[in-house]
Amino acid sequence: KPFVAPEGAAQTRKAELKKQSMQEVRRSLPIFPYREDLLAAIHEHQILVIEGETGSGKTTQIPQYLLEDVRGMKIGCTQPRRVAAMSVAARVAQEMSVKLGNEVGYSIRFEDCTSERTVLKYMTDGMLLREFLTEPDLASYSVIIIDEAHERTLHTDILFGLIKDIARFRSDLKVLVASATLDTERFSCFFDDAPVFRIPGRRFPVDIFYTKAPEADYLEACVVSVLQIHVTQSPGDILVFLTGQEEIEACCELLQERCRRLGSKIAELLVLPIYANLPSDMQAKIFNPTPPGARKVVVATNIAETSLTIDGIIYVIDPGFCKQKSYNARTGMESLIVTPCSRASANQRAGRAGRVAAGKCFRLYTAWAFKHEMEESTVPEIQRTNLGNVVLLLKSLGINDLIHFDFMDPPPHETLVLALEQLYALGALNHLGELTKLGRRMAELPVDPMLSKMILASEQYKCSEEVLTIAAMLSVNNSIFYRPKDKVVHADNARMNFVVPGGDHLLGNKPRCCANCSHDVFLAQWLESGYSTQWCYENFIQFRSMRRARDVRDQLEGLMDRIEVEVVSSQGDSLPIRKAVTAGYFYHTARLSKGGYKTVKHQQTVYVHPNSSLFEEQPRWLIYHELVFTTKEFMRQVIEIDSGWLLEVAPHYYKSKELEDSSSKKMPRKQGKTKEELG
Ligand code: CDP
Ligand code: MG
Repeated sequence: KPFVAPEGAAQTRKAELKKQSMQEVRRSLPIFPYREDLLAAIHEHQILVIEGETGSGKTTQIPQYLLEDVRGMKIGCTQPRRVAAMSVAARVAQEMSVKLGNEVGYSIRFEDCTSERTVLKYMTDGMLLREFLTEPDLASYSVIIIDEAHERTLHTDILFGLIKDIARFRSDLKVLVASATLDTERFSCFFDDAPVFRIPGRRFPVDIFYTKAPEADYLEACVVSVLQIHVTQSPGDILVFLTGQEEIEACCELLQERCRRLGSKIAELLVLPIYANLPSDMQAKIFNPTPPGARKVVVATNIAETSLTIDGIIYVIDPGFCKQKSYNARTGMESLIVTPCSRASANQRAGRAGRVAAGKCFRLYTAWAFKHEMEESTVPEIQRTNLGNVVLLLKSLGINDLIHFDFMDPPPHETLVLALEQLYALGALNHLGELTKLGRRMAELPVDPMLSKMILASEQYKCSEEVLTIAAMLSVNNSIFYRPKDKVVHADNARMNFVVPGGDHLLGNKPRCCANCSHDVFLAQWLESGYSTQWCYENFIQFRSMRRARDVRDQLEGLMDRIEVEVVSSQGDSLPIRKAVTAGYFYHTARLSKGGYKTVKHQQTVYVHPNSSLFEEQPRWLIYHELVFTTKEFMRQVIEIDSGWLLEVAPHYYKSKELEDSSSKKMPRKQGKTKEELG
């Protein structure tokens, strides 16, 4: 053949151009001029703290510099967020012209996209923590980058202590601690005065505007501000910070609706959401360049504060809130709360507007509130969360003396003690605080102690088939139903088809005609449909959440062998399933009382979430999966139990006196009905 087909040539040319321009972008990043100095510093010091403005190229470039410099390295780079790990790995694979999952890969919980060939692995901080279980000295790595260190997530903080420790006896290991321009002195101090390498930022000025009076409805205020900017301001994309998926979806819907109404009166506005649970192909969209004449608005969680850099942002809208875990060490109750963000956060957010040109930040709160109502900086997660998970992990690593663990900021003493007590009550530790056989098996599962206890208890109650489904569904937050505004009735009816008496956990575990069928019906029906999108669509089910639940379930089922749990079904009986849930979550018991519920141990008032299938029924005793504070303290995902079971599964925690009133009054109706219906 004399010549290459012209189309082929054009395509090759296009790919070449793209590659070229990507290399140009790489060279234009603020970090690029410091490439040699940085490599020299890494060469010279075992531990180096690297500070640089968000977007300067720390995450994507430093590993590539290292790989270009020395052959045969294996680099691990941690990220506090799943989305960041995935998207950064994809970007770097592209820059290196390799297939994602080969030389460059990522590993996040329930999803491993790496191979034998992987030399650069982006992963969540939690995943690296788990790697200590199989490789306590991380021998296969030559460089560990603890990235986004300023986020101070629980897992990053624990990594600090563990990695500092192994660096002492692994002199060949290089440790890089990368952070936005926050608090780097503290990192240096913690790592025995490791030097700080500063990458000077390029930042354009950002004008900050405050509201004159507090906003009553910040969501509405966001929508109005976006449209105002769109209509009155010169070109440039907009970034809006909201607190979570629901808010973001609501905001996007409102924006789209109003744009539709305004029609051709305004220029095109591309509305793009970004949050952790958003499917990755949708996530990738935020990085696409904005077409000429249009404007892009990205509606994001905190993830866009420092973990992701979106080019072209000129305007930032900051309502000043974020969703935070908060933990009451006295009651052991953990709750997600929307709270004012810190001043440090607000300043990071504003900074996002000044990366490519002078920008503007619209703060939807008053200057007074900024000064007087916001904290200086965010409290590290380790000081406001349940430590059960981490304590179990550290115990499995043979670290028994947790009080003297090398914490950068130690957790409150009572939180540690409570975690130990909880693990004792779950049977994971003995009275000497040593790991039990059960505890060792629990630690094998990459989930919270209560969840792993539930899974292990399913062995005894012979219902692991169903409990695995429950665990998988809980891990996607049961957010599998969608409820389009114009089809609320249909959606609710469809949902009713899946409701099983007894509680939200059982949802989808509805048995079919006879005892011989598979009872894992939710996923099974879907499987029967060939995992079809159509089936999901007809049932108002989110295909992607289902797919994720399926993946999680497959992974957990794969681990059952290792912890020697046989996968068997309870054959349509919900009783053993509910007992297994109780065995894991007995801490989360609430009892019906006037007007709502009260938690058993601490008498805190809580309410059934309106989305729950038990919202109307209000059984006397129930177990909740989590508490969410919005207008009130709501229990999400609840299941009805018999208080008598508590004595059976947690005799060392509950006294029969505490559970008295109901043991005398059983609930024959509901029990009977449940049984009958499950027949
Ligand atoms: O880590 P740091 O905040 O210092 O910067 P980075 O994440 O390495 O990003 C450097 C540049 O890479 C950004 O300015 C983006 O232009 C680009 N990037 C991208 O296009 N897509 C991504 N998923 C990540 C980064
Ligand atoms: Mg980064």
